[in-house]
Amino acid sequence: MNLSQTLSALFVGLAGAHAASNTAAPLVSSPGDISIIPGWSLQSSTRAPDDMPGLSQPGVDVSSWHRVGPRGTVMAGLLQAGVFNDTELFYSDNLNQLTSETTFRSPWLYREDFTLNPSDNQYFVLHTHGITSKADIYVNGERIVTSDEQKGSYGGHKYNLTDYVKDGTNSLLIRAFPTNYLRDFALGFVDWNPYPSDNGTGVWRNVEISQTGPVSMSPFRVITDLTKPNQNQKVNITLKTDLVNHAQKTVQVSVNGTITPPPGSKVGPILRSFELKPGESRTVSIKVGVEKASVWWPARWGAQPLYTVQANLLLHDTSMTVSDQTRAQQFGIRQVSSYVNEHNDTAFVVNGQQFQVMGAGYGPDMFMRFDERRVERIFRYMLDMGLNTVRLEGKQEQPELYEVADRMGMMVLAGWECCDKWEGWDYNDDAQGVKWGESDYPIAQAAMLHEAEMMQAHPSMLGFLVGSDYWPNDRATEVYLDALKDMDWKNPIIASASKRGYPKALGPSGMKMDGPYDWVPPNYWYGDQEGAAFGFGSELGAGVGTPEVGSLKKFMSDGDLETLWKEPDAKLFHMSRYDSQFFDRSIYNKALFERYGTAQDLEDYVLKCQMADYEATRAQYEAYSAKQNASRPATGSIYWMLNSAWPNLHWQLFDYYLSPMGAYFGTKVGNRLEHAAYDYEKKSVWLINHSLDLKGDREISIDLIDSNGKKISGTKVKTTTVPNSSKVVQEVSGIDKITDIAFLRLVLRDTKAKRDVSRNVYWLSPKADVLDWDESTWYTTPVTDYADYKKLQNLPSADVKAIVQTVKAKTKDGWTYADVQLENKSKVPAVFLRLNAINPDGAEVTPVFWSDNYLTLWPNEKLRVSVGFEGDIKQTVIEVSGRNVKKQSLKSPK
Ligand SMILES: *[C@@H]1O[C@H](CO)[C@@H](O)[C@H](O)[C@H]1NC(C)=O
Ligand SMILES: *[C@@H]1O[C@H](CO)[C@@H](O)[C@H](O)[C@H]1NC(C)=O
Ligand SMILES: *[C@@H]1O[C@H](CO)[C@@H](O)[C@H](O)[C@H]1NC(C)=O
Ligand SMILES: *[C@@H]1O[C@H](CO)[C@@H](O)[C@H](O)[C@H]1NC(C)=O
Ligand SMILES: *[C@@H]1O[C@H](CO)[C@@H](O)[C@H](O)[C@H]1NC(C)=O
Ligand SMILES: *[C@@H]1O[C@H](CO)[C@@H](O)[C@H](O)[C@H]1NC(C)=O
Ligand SMILES: *[C@@H]1O[C@H](CO)[C@@H](O)[C@H](O)[C@H]1NC(C)=O
Ligand SMILES: *[C@@H]1O[C@H](CO)[C@@H](O)[C@H](O)[C@H]1NC(C)=O
Ligand SMILES: *[C@@H]1O[C@H](CO)[C@@H](O)[C@H](O)[C@H]1NC(C)=O
Repeated sequence: MNLSQTLSALFVGLAGAHAASNTAAPLVSSPGDISIIPGWSLQSSTRAPDDMPGLSQPGVDVSSWHRVGPRGTVMAGLLQAGVFNDTELFYSDNLNQLTSETTFRSPWLYREDFTLNPSDNQYFVLHTHGITSKADIYVNGERIVTSDEQKGSYGGHKYNLTDYVKDGTNSLLIRAFPTNYLRDFALGFVDWNPYPSDNGTGVWRNVEISQTGPVSMSPFRVITDLTKPNQNQKVNITLKTDLVNHAQKTVQVSVNGTITPPPGSKVGPILRSFELKPGESRTVSIKVGVEKASVWWPARWGAQPLYTVQANLLLHDTSMTVSDQTRAQQFGIRQVSSYVNEHNDTAFVVNGQQFQVMGAGYGPDMFMRFDERRVERIFRYMLDMGLNTVRLEGKQEQPELYEVADRMGMMVLAGWECCDKWEGWDYNDDAQGVKWGESDYPIAQAAMLHEAEMMQAHPSMLGFLVGSDYWPNDRATEVYLDALKDMDWKNPIIASASKRGYPKALGPSGMKMDGPYDWVPPNYWYGDQEGAAFGFGSELGAGVGTPEVGSLKKFMSDGDLETLWKEPDAKLFHMSRYDSQFFDRSIYNKALFERYGTAQDLEDYVLKCQMADYEATRAQYEAYSAKQNASRPATGSIYWMLNSAWPNLHWQLFDYYLSPMGAYFGTKVGNRLEHAAYDYEKKSVWLINHSLDLKGDREISIDLIDSNGKKISGTKVKTTTVPNSSKVVQEVSGIDKITDIAFLRLVLRDTKAKRDVSRNVYWLSPKADVLDWDESTWYTTPVTDYADYKKLQNLPSADVKAIVQTVKAKTKDGWTYADVQLENKSKVPAVFLRLNAINPDGAEVTPVFWSDNYLTLWPNEKLRVSVGFEGDIKQTVIEVSGRNVKKQSLKSPK
């Protein structure tokens, strides 16, 4: 589709009429009901009469408008309605060709008819949860709020509809105004990617209508008094809710509810009575004792028992009528705190244990489309990589994300986003955001109140950062802190993600933002400056995350692909935004070509990228793990970033299509629970232990060989165990004897269980990368001399025998698990073997979970890896290829 065809399709609309008739089931019908507006008719205001009162009368014919779901930005709606197709939109530079900003410079209208049957003593409330950038709202021909109040992507408000609703069809019209990231409190992408054409404008979160009797109640806020977990312990829970008496008389009410505990734990019922004066609003507290409390843990350290609370609000009339009820809310019993240590670094504590953050930064969908299943898969990938924390930088997403995190044991570090309007401070000269004025503070307040209410009870919350690159000014800090206090926020509150400054009320953030964001060599992380492994790195990485060829071909044209490997300094549309430092791969490619050799073709380029990316993420996570209890401990790091908003070439650990790649498996190795790691600076081996309870003797085998498989050195070390800490075990001997390239294998063995707990291979150069620390910028530290891995281009070839050996029966949920046996039949190492599962259409299977990948096998070594994926192994081909191994396709056993 070209631009003019797209534009005409835009205004035609696809769906048919959708007006509710008087006979349709009411949206809400009893006190305590709350319902999402189930969908919308969407149209540009330029294509509708300029008569909001008229358009918000029931029964207006909007059959020519686009039919969209309950929540979505304008672009998300147009994608859903088929006006755009994201496969096409994301291909090459189509985003620029197929969409036009002018389409989104005018307001867009969201309209829906629905049925209500109001009666005496019934009250109706409209709940918004944020509309980008701001909105006028009309009901049945009357304007109920203007865009002066309904403002900001996180502006959640309640509007009293009682006087506006009528029996039969009612109509709701939202006029959403265009978004400018510098002027509005929105969800911007700064330098992450090109901006969505609509800047995220629209009803991106649900809108709800509730019905109550004379008294209403808010969702519960849950406070537990757990400090340190013990067995059979008693915990007190305080439930807080806001009661509002809408009636003009004094009423007696009871909160009557239940907490459903996980098996083994016991909780009493909730039953408390209150008296409310005419029109009174009051926050009430209810204390409940829990016996044998089940404590919630982050995934690696234990289980995720969850409690569910639900209550009714009963009126003390003759029949104890229900006046309101809460939705079932899930919460967990655990304790999270943070402190700034003697080095001014922030450290976190979960359930009394030092919690080293091994995290990554989350990218929402470019069009803010939300798919709970996708989030689940992303978190599952995170857990598979050994990550324990996801950072949401101003992308607090939908409420379901926190439920998924609670269930899976993923910690969430949420907070406001950098730059743009959010950081329009007088002392911030780095960003162009319009400076805050008087009218901005109420928007910030509403946002903080709303997000805090949404997150409050979730055990997965690790903390909230009220600033990112910059700290909020004192007045904004007070607004944020008051709102958090009002919402009984008991988790850490941190001033910003950097050490540039801080508001008095919060003190130093203890988080460094000193880069890198672009390529640095592996030994960088073992240094003692900038982003190296000490303290808490809030966003940092070597800028890697190149997708494999199969994925690249999905979003790059032949021309784009040729540019990618042939022109190392070219500007690339699928890197960061055009005005960003990261619009090209010049720093990365210079290092790649110097270290691994100039690319011969696309496949060669991508293979070299995978090796470089693997090396980069492994070293970053290994160094942070190794230094977990150093004299200046590495308290945590957030890889920049976890994933991308669209098909992208960097800043990710798996690609947009959920294909894992080099960066993924480097991370997975670097984060292992127990691991032996090579220190590129000291040339020594670290023993790393992140576990709290794994027991037994360990032995480390250290073997160094050359490219012909000839032994340079070999040792076995027995070592004593150390709980949740790391130590240097021994220097690697023979590093000085490397001539062109060598391979170092570290195997950590549980001798009692006779099981290797970690096995890992490095390729090493006789020449180290040399960093010029003094010339560091905010995004990288230059390298004056590079390691040399060019020998990898002409290794003697290896012959690997690979068979799919064991296949477990397909599980009920459609998953297949199989083992692949690899055997190097040669006298030389088989280097960087990639295993890939291909479905009958020739596409990579995703998501896919390999126990290990991108493996290097020793001469004659046998190794077994396992794989799990959704699908049938009989229709799946497993491909194996490597740096010096020819590609082969494996058939599954009958
Ligand atoms: C989107 O476009 C692609 C490529 O042109 C096509 O294969 C796909 O079927 C389209 N999707 C929809 C939902 O129309
Ligand atoms: C989106 O916001 C940017 C500022 O960040 C602005 O330059 C641009 O015009 C906006 N686009 C639209 C469609 O309003
Ligand atoms: C829980 O509350 C009860 C009664 O208020 C109190 O006696 C007890 O000490 C509390 N338990 C804890 C662990 O604070
Ligand atoms: C909502 O409006 C109704 C009808 O005017 C009124 O009785 C009630 O008190 C209002 N509720 C609040 C919380 O203002
Ligand atoms: C409270 O609710 C429970 C069921 O959830 C019910 O059995 C009980 O009768 C209710 N109590 C009152 C006072 O209504
Ligand atoms: C920590 O920060 C404070 C100022 O907030 C400063 O006085 C102190 O010297 C710093 N300590 C270290 C170890 O850098
Ligand atoms: C970390 O703790 C272990 C065990 O106490 C100790 O052997 C090791 O030296 C410590 N590491 C550092 C870098 O201090
Ligand atoms: C983990 O290390 C900390 C000190 O860093 C210590 O207080 C804690 O007891 C250790 N946990 C276990 C299970 O050994
Ligand atoms: C890791 O720490 C645990 C808990 O103290 C201990 O049982 C285990 O042996 C340690 N493992 C290693 C490899 O040090």
